[in-house]
Amino acid sequence: MSGPNKQYDPVEVATLDPEAVERAVEEALEAIRGAGSLEELKAVRLAHHGEKSALALANREIGALPPSAKAEAGKRVGQARGRVAQAIAWRLAELERLRDERILVEETQDLTVRVPRHRLGARHPISLVTERVEDIFVAMGWEIAEGPEIESEWLNFDALNIGADHPARGEADTFFVAPAGSGLVLRTHTSPVQVRTMLDRTPPIYVLCPGKVFRTDDLDATHTPVFHQFEGLVVDEGITMAHLKGTLDAFVQRLFGDGIVTRLRPNYFPFTEPSAEIDCQCWVCGGEDPGCRTCGGTGWIELGGSGMVNQRVLRASGIDPERYTGFAFGLGIERSLMLRHGVADMHDIVEGDVRFSRQFGMEI
Ligand code: PHE
Repeated sequence: MSGPNKQYDPVEVATLDPEAVERAVEEALEAIRGAGSLEELKAVRLAHHGEKSALALANREIGALPPSAKAEAGKRVGQARGRVAQAIAWRLAELERLRDERILVEETQDLTVRVPRHRLGARHPISLVTERVEDIFVAMGWEIAEGPEIESEWLNFDALNIGADHPARGEADTFFVAPAGSGLVLRTHTSPVQVRTMLDRTPPIYVLCPGKVFRTDDLDATHTPVFHQFEGLVVDEGITMAHLKGTLDAFVQRLFGDGIVTRLRPNYFPFTEPSAEIDCQCWVCGGEDPGCRTCGGTGWIELGGSGMVNQRVLRASGIDPERYTGFAFGLGIERSLMLRHGVADMHDIVEGDVRFSRQFGMEI
């Protein structure tokens, strides 16, 4: 008898032996399970599923088998390779998931960390109030007039009928500009802008003069040596105190709300005659709350001074008092702000801390 007929008999080489195949699979599965990282899995894939792996070699041997043995061996090796490929795919997915989880934890950014950055500024409430007041008067057809902060004594005092012996001229209130006798002061009110306007122009005059003024007060909770006023001036034919009252009422209603009115109390100013203090009805309690902290229970809040322009001032400013009459009023902006917004300490207004300004909003 001859030996096995190589061409027809299903002779298998050792690598295709079912046990050897099963062993190769077991080894591969163990190595795959043991791969702790994607790099390790890559090496495992190369060793157990790559071209030089035992199963790849076995696969190649199939081609050399007689046809009768090919199908069986092909199925066996194919299934074995499939199991390995599947195990690699699962392990790959698992390792990728673990890697992603680790990245999420390790590379987490603490976005709440405080980094230096530019903060937004805010407009100062003095600017906001000034512009709101300007808008109210411009809407009534008035013009805005401005003048210098360093002013001549004549315009700041003499032209306004404040004589040389008037207490407001003394060193107690006024910053004089050196050298002594320069004739210049830091303006103590915005009234010299009235005189400048009247000297410059002929009536009808309807102007609002907002600006910075200076008095030798120490800075404390209610005083500041530099503060802001706005002054109104009207000079026209037939102007009376009724026009003053009507204008003030219209103004406070636009600023504080409908229904609020003013009242005038007799007073004295050298540059107006007659003169009056302006009180405004309390916009918080309307006079209804005896315990009101804004008006102190009186129902009225003092806003500033006013009156009919003194004929001597008209004359000094080149206006004919026989033909024209006028009224003027002056209000402090810091005071309005403190009353309107309950600012208790002047320091907050002058210090320029943006945290204070921001509370008044970002009106442009
Ligand atoms: N000039 C006055 C002051 O500074 C205010 C005022 C202006 C009063 C106009 C009457 C008329 O206190």
